[in-house]
Amino acid sequence: MTTAPLSNDARAIEELRSKLGGRLTIVGHHYEQEATIQHCDIRGDSLELARRVPGIASDYIVFCGVYFMAESAALLAREGQQVLLPDHSADCVMAQMTPARLLDRVLGRLTASGRKLVPLAYVNTSLAVKAVVGRYGGAVCTSANAEKMMNWAFRQGDGVLFLPDKNLARNTARKLGITGRDTHILDVRKTGEAVDLAAADKAALVLWPGLCAIHARFHPEQIEAVRKADPSCKVIVHPECSPEVVRAADGAGSTTYIIEYVRNAPDGAHIYVGTEINLVERLAREQEGRIRVEALRSSACSNMAKITPEKLRATLEGIVAGNTDPITVPSEDSAPAKASLERMLEACA
Ligand code: 13P
Ligand code: SF4
Repeated sequence: MTTAPLSNDARAIEELRSKLGGRLTIVGHHYEQEATIQHCDIRGDSLELARRVPGIASDYIVFCGVYFMAESAALLAREGQQVLLPDHSADCVMAQMTPARLLDRVLGRLTASGRKLVPLAYVNTSLAVKAVVGRYGGAVCTSANAEKMMNWAFRQGDGVLFLPDKNLARNTARKLGITGRDTHILDVRKTGEAVDLAAADKAALVLWPGLCAIHARFHPEQIEAVRKADPSCKVIVHPECSPEVVRAADGAGSTTYIIEYVRNAPDGAHIYVGTEINLVERLAREQEGRIRVEALRSSACSNMAKITPEKLRATLEGIVAGNTDPITVPSEDSAPAKASLERMLEACA
């Protein structure tokens, strides 16, 4: 295999990395493009990245991912460490579906009767939302530990409010034997006034009506079509896909689950993957000649794509020049948001 020559940005990034040495750690999520992730010291899914941050000792952590991931890193970082995101506008669309004030209001209404409804927030939420969740005694979860954390949340109270991803919630609930009849999807319009309190009160699992637009592009018909073309193929998807897609697939799990499934597949396997395209294409390249990996359909996260090598280079140049724009954590949100994240890290240690 011939290696492509390094671009000017790639060369500059590598020079800056050597110059900064142990003062810098670059971390990246699996959905980042190859030109960016190739410079990362640590790659991972959301859970792994959150777990690794407390062990990083460098002065600067440059995060190649979306805003909520960098915010979680800033929350878990040591005193004096700076967490930098090369483009602050790289925000997860699903995270934006739960405004913190609306969540606070809705939780206030749902618990006014004295019910102990425990909020469980997917890590794809803002720090302000994690703070609200922390104040209500709840925790964070990721796609890798959603089942464990949903069990945890049920043990803490008499019901669970899962947010924002109704798909991950329903896919996880199914594994726990919780059916649609035990769940209620909230209507959060009219600043929370439209919430049906009686219906929510009857449900063991209350769901926020959020989802990931990138994973909503996968449909059971696509799975039917690829199975028709090759009945021996396997289909694996991310649990942010709809329950109909997850049910039709051979397996569903976090980005790390997907990577391991592909790497452990027998020679000659043919696997269709339903998740963000950068990860699928990377796996296809990595496995070329051994197994066939194809996208169920091409679906890109435009926010992950904002972390280009140009912006990564500019961020590193900024560090060298002493001109940085670190992610800040509002002091009033710091302790409760950290509590919600630490509850997850402790429960899943
Ligand atoms: P993972 O935690 O599985 O890496 O997923 C993060 C994400 O944003 C998926 O869309
Ligand atoms: Fe958010 Fe979806 Fe992008 Fe993941 S793929 S970061 S959930 S918008």
